[in-house]
Amino acid sequence: INNGLAQTPQMGWNSWNFFACDINETVIKETADALISTGLAEMGYIYVNIDDCWSTLRRDSKVSLDSVTFNLVLFFSDVHLGQLVPDPETFPSGIRALADYVHGKGLKLGIYSDAGDFTCQVRPGSLFHENDDAEIFASWEVDYLKFDNCFNLGIDPKKRYPPMREALNATGRTIFYSLCEWGVDDPALWAGKVGNSWRTTDDINDTWASMTTVADLNNKWAAYAGPGGWNDPDMLEVGNGGMTYPEYRAHFSIWALMKAPLLIGCDVRNMTAETYNILTNEEIIAVNQDKLGVQGRKVQVAGDGCSEVWAGPLSGNRLTVALWNRCSKAKTIKAVWDALGLESSTSVSVRDLWKHQDVLQDVVASFSAQVDAHGCEMYILTPQNVSRSDI
Ligand code: GLA
Repeated sequence: INNGLAQTPQMGWNSWNFFACDINETVIKETADALISTGLAEMGYIYVNIDDCWSTLRRDSKVSLDSVTFNLVLFFSDVHLGQLVPDPETFPSGIRALADYVHGKGLKLGIYSDAGDFTCQVRPGSLFHENDDAEIFASWEVDYLKFDNCFNLGIDPKKRYPPMREALNATGRTIFYSLCEWGVDDPALWAGKVGNSWRTTDDINDTWASMTTVADLNNKWAAYAGPGGWNDPDMLEVGNGGMTYPEYRAHFSIWALMKAPLLIGCDVRNMTAETYNILTNEEIIAVNQDKLGVQGRKVQVAGDGCSEVWAGPLSGNRLTVALWNRCSKAKTIKAVWDALGLESSTSVSVRDLWKHQDVLQDVVASFSAQVDAHGCEMYILTPQNVSRSDI
């Protein structure tokens, strides 16, 4: 896809992780309001994405068949005629009205469909309806499409996802295209030409086990991410209650470092101070949104098997480093220059992105810090350009 979007990973909110199918236009509007009033929008969280369950169970019928013929066609061919329709009970004003509301606040609206017969919650899917559906999304002034993988009739994703790219391009509207094929068929290898992001894993859930598993799966594809197209290890669970504060801090740090989409998945109308503190760490957001656009990765694991160092390059010759303690007790974790790709004589300054402080100057060879169980400390290392011997 060549729509000019995703020069940095997308940021925003999505309804699924917290609300699942329990969504309606009031929730979406109140979320847009909250993104503004909390300051999250100003920090970059601009997409307001509606996930599954916004539509009726059947398409409407704009085709002029008499009702007997229409029902026979439905019965025999399982063809879903007509257009997608927002559920009149939960979205009575329609999607266009919601887009107007969201745009009025300077935000963007996302919608969801599926590259199959049905969505995962058995609403009509868009397979073989790509043109009609892209057109209706564009006519509603939608800015983002998440395209899921349920009921896919066993057809190869490499065949099912490109038609929607063509259909979106043909609308003339610039629409972010997010592939949600759950990592099936190694999307990093082909989806860069198709969409603006692609899921590298199965669904995340709000547990430490799931979050760490997903992080490792996404890590494998680091080389394939870059401006225009990003690996997607799924949406954030920060604030949903299933992990501890250190675990959520690690989740946010590592997602940012991996250049993952930062799509908030909690109820932003009711955030705790801790959740707010994590999601609004502007120094960590800046790592995610750095213009160099290189996905950081796991570079070092200590002999204990659970003290990890993750790192990646940033613009301006800087590096970001995360010391991630996946052990069940506190650890001192050491980052060695060699693992970071630095000459051991390189002198750097170290800024702590959770403390918001410059913590070390003129460090060479390595640095270490104490990290809580399941916690993660995150830094920016800036090489000191002029070494002493040059002076
Ligand atoms: C799939 C996707 C999820 C979510 C649900 C909705 O499981 O991977 O992210 O969109 O469907 O039904």
